[in-house]
Amino acid sequence: MRVTAIYPGTFDPMTVGHIDVAQRASKMFDDLIIGVAGDPSAKKTPFFNLEERVDIAGEILKDLPNVKVMPFSGLLVKFAASVEASVIVRGLRAISDFEYEVQIAGVNRHLSPKVETVFIAASQDYTFLSSSIVKEIALLGGDYSDFVHPRVIKEFQRKIDASGVEQ
Ligand code: COA
Repeated sequence: MRVTAIYPGTFDPMTVGHIDVAQRASKMFDDLIIGVAGDPSAKKTPFFNLEERVDIAGEILKDLPNVKVMPFSGLLVKFAASVEASVIVRGLRAISDFEYEVQIAGVNRHLSPKVETVFIAASQDYTFLSSSIVKEIALLGGDYSDFVHPRVIKEFQRKIDASGVEQ
């Protein structure tokens, strides 16, 4: 039986930390779907729109043959059912992620007991990394090239140039 997993997130933008989790998860499951959230939590207003985030992630992960990038909105467990995924993958960077992640995993298990959440320990090199940190450095004109794929740098530059904001 083929096992399909979903790695969901806002990916605003995808960082090398996310890429590391996606690469490792792609080796563990037959198929991996990167689920890019169309309506992230109320606390977040994405810098990149959904189409951009899907497009960027698709290019970055194009060499992984069993990985597919898809947008989703609404409940994650409903999306999981629609693509016949039985596993949700989440990366854990530090103990600080643990409480929130266990809470979400509990909610998702309650909503759909058939879907199991699997945690992958994020690379130790990037435990400090987050999409917000990347955005902050990018918008303030710092060097964030160690943290993202070159496509992300190109996209930031395009949007910053279009907005006419000086760095
Ligand atoms: N490397 C670098 N950064 C990482 C990381 C890693 N390995 N793992 C997580 N992060 C960072 C992200 O960059 C992000 O940083 P930010 O807050 O600065 O943007 C943060 O950790 C968490 O983001 P992410 O992993 O993208 O998850 P999220 O919290 O944005 O997304 C969803 C959560 C979309 C999966 C969740 O809200 C969801 O399932 N929504 C659908 C609605 C639903 O089903 N709700 C019921 C369950 S609560």
